[in-house]
Amino acid sequence: MTIHSNLKYWFCSVIAIKFFAVSFVHAQNHHIINLETDKSIAKVQPNMWGVFFEDINFGADGGIYAELIKNRSFEFAKPLMGWSIVRDKPQEGEVLVVNRKEVNQANPRYLQVHKNTTDFELVNEGFKGIGVKKDLSYNFSVMYRQAKVGVTMVLQLKDENNKIIAQGDFKPDNIGDGWHKQSLSFVATESSARAKFSIVFKGNGHIDLDMISLFPGDTWKNRPQGLRADMVQLLADMKPGFIRFPGGCIVEGTDLANRYQWKNTIGPIEGRKMIVNRWNNEFAHRPAPDYYQSFGLGFFEYFQLAEDIGSDALPILNCGMACQFNSGEVVALDELQPYIQDALDLIEFANGNASTVWGKKRIELGHAKPFNLKMLGVGNENWGPQYMERVALFKAAIKAKYPNIKLIYSSGTDPEGDRFNLLDNYLRNEKADFIDEHYYRSAEWFLKNAGRYDNYPRNDTKVFVGEYAVHADKNLTGKEKNNWQSALASASLMTGLERNADVVQMASYAPLFAHVDAWQWAPDMIWVDNLKSYGTPDYYVQKLFSTNKGTDVIAITLNGKNITGQNGLYASSVLDKTKKELIIKIANNAAEEQHIDFTLLGKAKLKSKYSIETMSDDNLNQLNSFENPLAVSPQKSIYNMKGKGLNVRLKPYSFNLIKIGLN
Ligand code: AHR
Repeated sequence: MTIHSNLKYWFCSVIAIKFFAVSFVHAQNHHIINLETDKSIAKVQPNMWGVFFEDINFGADGGIYAELIKNRSFEFAKPLMGWSIVRDKPQEGEVLVVNRKEVNQANPRYLQVHKNTTDFELVNEGFKGIGVKKDLSYNFSVMYRQAKVGVTMVLQLKDENNKIIAQGDFKPDNIGDGWHKQSLSFVATESSARAKFSIVFKGNGHIDLDMISLFPGDTWKNRPQGLRADMVQLLADMKPGFIRFPGGCIVEGTDLANRYQWKNTIGPIEGRKMIVNRWNNEFAHRPAPDYYQSFGLGFFEYFQLAEDIGSDALPILNCGMACQFNSGEVVALDELQPYIQDALDLIEFANGNASTVWGKKRIELGHAKPFNLKMLGVGNENWGPQYMERVALFKAAIKAKYPNIKLIYSSGTDPEGDRFNLLDNYLRNEKADFIDEHYYRSAEWFLKNAGRYDNYPRNDTKVFVGEYAVHADKNLTGKEKNNWQSALASASLMTGLERNADVVQMASYAPLFAHVDAWQWAPDMIWVDNLKSYGTPDYYVQKLFSTNKGTDVIAITLNGKNITGQNGLYASSVLDKTKKELIIKIANNAAEEQHIDFTLLGKAKLKSKYSIETMSDDNLNQLNSFENPLAVSPQKSIYNMKGKGLNVRLKPYSFNLIKIGLN
């Protein structure tokens, strides 16, 4: 061979290798995906995608419950925590914490102010400061007792520099022996993210004070002493199928004395006996000594919230067991009846009519219509034979009286292992309605488990994935954990939940809310500060699923197989028979663009336009933030169909929701 022909050979080889390489890459990134539009393989429950609410990370007190005063009734272990007395020369006995527990078990302490000499201030620091909005009114209320005319109060909100940004004069109207409640509203002239609230005492005499409260004037539905509207709105926008409450480990309590007891959370707020929040000292690296449960957001409000946002209520009750990571305390089996009675009474409270004791209470609280409770959880993350013997008693009593109420049972803390298997087998043998599975795992685990339910038993027992979230790299902290990688892996696994909607009938990401200055647990779906809130990429993934749930699952396959990670692709598809739509959810976990030709096998006739909502970012660590709340959020484009084909390009690291109308 001459030099010339050698060169020619070399040149041709390079071209050939390049050609094959290009076509190989092309073939790798070009897929034909089949959709069988004529056959429904599962029905999607209308309440499939829900939310999990727990008072963790200051999610309720200091969060969605819009009360701005911390320790309003002086019942924290340290009665003046959150409060300070500002005066030049303290006078002995000027401010006393009085305990009247013999006559008021629920709210024993109040403050007695003896105002004899110069004016002084009582200042509340708020939860992590107080968020104040210019031009908004602030609604103050207090319970007081004053025998003789004497003390008056000036109410002030002060910003970080002690500048007064709102002020009102409070003069007690009722003089006499009894306790009175009185309110006053005043308007803020400036905004501040970290204001404080001050009461300046004037005049002379004695006054007793309790339930010192301040709410912003823009609560959800303008309900007095209600919820933070921005946070509820984020939930409402998701149209969640259900809201699970009140948690979480908070149901169990660190011991039985501190378990969640719903009956202590209804009725006048001054009668709701508060307790320490179990997340107060759970994590040494995130201590929250000022974290208590006022129960201002109690069971009535939870039901009302569910109704407001069109969700089913899903309460979880203590099953006679405290957290097994803490005390592991269990109630004696022959003393379980009050716990079971609480469950029976809750159903009556939610659904009973005026002739029932608890139905009557609900009506007296202002809700004549039943709340239409359909399901109830017994225990949170409880496990072992001690759980089995307790839930058996719950089940017998509840099903005997309310056979149509679906019961949800725990499978413990992990989605695999001996504890899980013991409960899973037992509960399936018992024909349990639902088993609650929890997984806080790595992105890798989520991707590997997208096919978890493809071969699950298809029997009477359904799965409720009651808590899940991708737990990212340990080097990331707090809100950094809600990066795009986590959300994309969740979306990928969720296609597997949707594909198996006959088995997995409900699912909720957890936890829901976290305050940026007061969190204990991350990741969380929505982050808030005192004034603002934003949805993480996880929020938008959840919202895409819950607002596009469809009615019927159809088969979507690649080379005849479910799409559970081939080339980084994960997919599911539903029809919405009511809206006449075909919806495809497809995640591309690869670093390259992928081209998909969807082939429709079936008689369905497609409209000429389709939309794609894409969430994507090349940077898997990308976050949303207060400054850039929509950094990773769905971007919608509309396309015209070319002929009969539906050909789309999926961006690298993207989650896509494709929607086409059906003729
Ligand atoms: O979601 C946070 C906690 O995780 C829940 O309280 C508990 O059920 C789980 O361990």
